[in-house]
Amino acid sequence: MKKILVLGGTGFVGRHVCEKLTQLQWRVTVPTRQESNARNIQMLPSLDVFEANVHDEAVLTRLVAGHDAVVNLIAILHGTKTAFDKVHVELPQKLARACAATGVRRVVHVSALGADMRNPDIAPSMYLRSKGHGEVALHHAALDLTVLRPSVMFGADDKFLNVFAHLQKIFPVVPLAASHALFQPVWVEDVASAIVHCLKDEHLHATADQTFDACGPGIFTLRQLVEMAGRLSGINQGRGRPVIALPAALGRLQARLMEFAPGEPLMSRDNLASMTQPNIASGNLPGLQAMGITPAALEAVAPAYLGPGSGGWGLRSNLTLKRKSAGRS
Ligand SMILES: NC(=O)c1ccc[n+]([C@@H]2O[C@H](COP(=O)([O-])OP(=O)(O)OC[C@H]3O[C@@H](n4cnc5c(N)ncnc54)[C@H](OP(=O)(O)O)[C@@H]3O)[C@@H](O)[C@H]2O)c1
Repeated sequence: MKKILVLGGTGFVGRHVCEKLTQLQWRVTVPTRQESNARNIQMLPSLDVFEANVHDEAVLTRLVAGHDAVVNLIAILHGTKTAFDKVHVELPQKLARACAATGVRRVVHVSALGADMRNPDIAPSMYLRSKGHGEVALHHAALDLTVLRPSVMFGADDKFLNVFAHLQKIFPVVPLAASHALFQPVWVEDVASAIVHCLKDEHLHATADQTFDACGPGIFTLRQLVEMAGRLSGINQGRGRPVIALPAALGRLQARLMEFAPGEPLMSRDNLASMTQPNIASGNLPGLQAMGITPAALEAVAPAYLGPGSGGWGLRSNLTLKRKSAGRS
């Protein structure tokens, strides 16, 4: 039985990873800022949740000690440069030192498509630049490191297609910035399977290339994704709402206004900056197929959770939806 520390185990990807690791009967530790954030995983067998401040290096070092491997899924999508650097750069630096201090060498780190560890500063957004610098920090350490770079992820409990569908339930039209931005969406279950594969495969870290693009089989514009979410969720008798592409200046204004809205913004100017770069496989790195995973098509999975009567917003249990999703487990 392996012991795995999952940083960010309470999040969208983390919940799926924890489920798979506990199915293997491995021991899983998940620190969280707030125990209530762990309600979707704390019932899993052989999993321990602790409230802990992972940014405190002494705390992080104590957490890492005694584990066979660490999975790092902690990230933010919105914030200032200081906030991005704290979470995406300084935390990986602390993790590298914690691993060195405790003798833990195996780390699986989830970054993002578009991050560039060879030249982090050329990326178009604070998010992607900080993700690139985070990769550099881990690569400089003496670790057995695997980095996964996913495109946007979909799944029953996503905040992506579910949000597009929900917006169309509320508004008669969708004014959309960056409507031509390209994505290659990947199923969260496939990314979780890849992470587990990395932890299972003792020989993977001995291979030359340790960075993988994690993408699905199809490339879509943002407009196509919004329209598909509307259609699949049966809104407007299955036609979805009309999508109005905003010119760049209006798109920036919309994002700026959204940044002032209470709670997590739907879109920020930094998100728009990220979307100036196609969010599709680089062509230079191996993909999930190199791990023996055939990525599921969005069209095969999304109808099961967006379809009329499905509940939307990830309200149904993951397990029910997974059974419905294209007959895959
Ligand atoms: N979702 C996507 O479409 C997508 C696309 C590309 C790349 N990724 C990458 O995939 C990884 C996992 O993403 P996800 O969608 O699962 O993220 P998520 O659902 O937002 O979860 C993020 C996790 O990080 C923790 N966290 C957030 N802010 C934190 C902070 N300031 N300090 C400490 N912990 C913090 C949260 O834990 P607590 O709240 O329990 O503390 C949560 O478990 C990330 O690296 C992300 O950048 C995601």
